[in-house]
Amino acid sequence: MKITLTINGQEFPLRIDPNERLLDTLRKLGFFSIKSGGCEHGECGACTILFDGRSVNSCTMLTVQAEGHKIQTVEAEGDHPDHGWKKTDGLSVIQQAFVEVGAIQCGYCTPAMVLTAKALLDRDPNPDEDQVRDALSGVLCRCTGYIKPVQAVLRAAAVLRGEEVMPVNGPIDVTEALKPSDEPVDGGVPVTNGKGTLTETKILPKLKIVDPHSEMKTVGHAETKVDAVKLVQGKPAFVADYEMRDLLYAKVLRSPYAHAEIKNIDTSRAEACRVSLRCLPGKTSTSGLFHSRTVPPDPGPLDSFSLDHKVRFVGDRVAFVAAESVAIAEAALDLIDVEYEVLEPLLDPSKAMNEGAPVIHDEPEFVNFDESDPTRNIAAEIRIDIGNVEKGFAEADRIIEGDYDVPKVQQAHIEPHVVMTYWDEDDRLVIKTSTQVPFHVRRQIAPVLDLPIKRIRVIKPRIGGGFGGKQEVLVEDVAAHLTIATGKPVLYEMTREEEFIGARTRHPMRIHLKTGLKNDGTITANEMYCLSDTGAYGCHALTVAGNTGHKAMAIYVGDGEYRKDPNIRFYSDVVYTNTVPSGAYRGYGVPQGFWPVERHMENIARELGLDPIEFRLKNALRSGEIHPFSKAWSEGREPKPETIYTIGLEDCVEQGRMAIDWDHKFNNQQWHIVPGKKHLRKGIGVAMVMQGTAIPIWIWAVPASR
Ligand code: FES
Ligand code: FES
Repeated sequence: MKITLTINGQEFPLRIDPNERLLDTLRKLGFFSIKSGGCEHGECGACTILFDGRSVNSCTMLTVQAEGHKIQTVEAEGDHPDHGWKKTDGLSVIQQAFVEVGAIQCGYCTPAMVLTAKALLDRDPNPDEDQVRDALSGVLCRCTGYIKPVQAVLRAAAVLRGEEVMPVNGPIDVTEALKPSDEPVDGGVPVTNGKGTLTETKILPKLKIVDPHSEMKTVGHAETKVDAVKLVQGKPAFVADYEMRDLLYAKVLRSPYAHAEIKNIDTSRAEACRVSLRCLPGKTSTSGLFHSRTVPPDPGPLDSFSLDHKVRFVGDRVAFVAAESVAIAEAALDLIDVEYEVLEPLLDPSKAMNEGAPVIHDEPEFVNFDESDPTRNIAAEIRIDIGNVEKGFAEADRIIEGDYDVPKVQQAHIEPHVVMTYWDEDDRLVIKTSTQVPFHVRRQIAPVLDLPIKRIRVIKPRIGGGFGGKQEVLVEDVAAHLTIATGKPVLYEMTREEEFIGARTRHPMRIHLKTGLKNDGTITANEMYCLSDTGAYGCHALTVAGNTGHKAMAIYVGDGEYRKDPNIRFYSDVVYTNTVPSGAYRGYGVPQGFWPVERHMENIARELGLDPIEFRLKNALRSGEIHPFSKAWSEGREPKPETIYTIGLEDCVEQGRMAIDWDHKFNNQQWHIVPGKKHLRKGIGVAMVMQGTAIPIWIWAVPASR
């Protein structure tokens, strides 16, 4: 059908499909500032546009509904509405404020935030913080959070009202900010701005970094993010923002069963419907064995095919489809006939190693890594003993134990997994992908595609959040197989539903802790057993669990003679289950360790009647001491003792203690009471965490020209 849309003041006569979504039409027209969060149901807000001045989600509207209305996108913000994103200068006041206060991290949500702010300030030039927060709440941000965007909107509002605002680059005194309050401890009134909001956001950040750096030009001063300007203008920067002639769109048929054998796949009905459609069914495409690991030399079993004859979780891949539109590709999925033999699923990790449990990886091609044992559903096993743990327990006055569960959670980056593949003019397969690990993609995918590494070029444009979820080869092989099969460029973008059923999650863990203690709080021995659930495939199985112990069990070494020679045990079994595979996720196993360890330490301090901070610091690792695990474990490599030269823990705790006014609050029964609400108590707590900030340096063993 024919319609005319009015976008950014210009008329666009169009021929559209009656079922076409406004989001798709606008992106096809080149308005790439409008992002897709893959949710398609109005949940994330990344696709926000202004529709007659109101912010709406373009994914929930049909294009036909937009005729006769005014559409505005971020391309028209600023001093050059006629030039849109082609000009880099001339930011609007709102865009400028986002850049100045640093309200942009990955930038995927930023155009939506800017438009939402514009809609708010156009109707109310003087909003309070609650109103700003309420307006922005429709746009999900996983990286920046909301403090900076709220600051940006309040700052922009002040500028638009003609008020003077302080330069963001002004110095702020940290020591001042951390001084204990001179005000008397309140009688229990919650910290609010009087309207129920539990924070109060200042127009300017209240930080000044500090005398020692005051002479420096850059350190200690706010810096504009190098790519902030292009992101606030919504310029094409992400994989799906690039256009390609003859592009095909990929979709994946996913398993409805947790555990099943594929007996037969018939794609004839699907392939009959359109010439350009191409289906790659399972069973016939197991050209390469690969494991979506990230650290060479792959410390994990090889247990995955691009497409296999068996499915191992609800959402596992069954077939790939490419077609000239997403709608045709989706329709084709319904026309693929699959015959399954349903097998007993294994869903409970605690039963995975039982005799008679269903065996998830019985394929003869499985390649063991170190201690993996597929006959017992074990992807990895770790056994680390440091010192003499049994002696430490025997010398303890008390032994305190506890069980802790760490649940499954998903990374939920707002930009879904997305990849585009095509052959370039030199017969190289180009993989433009939203990945955190471009070099691993290249290395891992070459044998899967049966191509030499030199014929693969991986391009990583800007990524709209990853949080570890993009540390695997999850979508690249799908599009690559289809480009090889069709000769055409292919785009594969996961939906939000696929992110939850077919991507990765944090490894859920069941953890048992046992600690030996002297009556004065000295730890004599510390033991952790960790049952980690890697789901259907052993992605990051060994290294994530290894980090759980390596970081969380290394911080509390004991005191006195025990400090000199700590007694620590860390055992872990990483087991397969018929659930969504786990993988890398912010902190890489460390949060799973510290969550139980810190709860356990708190329980111990309370049981022994000790101050939680003093008890922790008494036993914590100190500068100049050897990281206890470095003598015993190194992710499958030869361990090498490492001295920890600097630990700012005591200083950090001291500053934190002042900042939260611990000394006035923790033992003050009055402070914990909420006046007029007998059923409520205010709490205050402390936790200490150690994290690694870099990965080991590796000498690259595979020549890129191979
Ligand atoms: S709200 Fe439209 S893509 Fe998420
Ligand atoms: S900056 Fe908001 S989602 Fe990344």
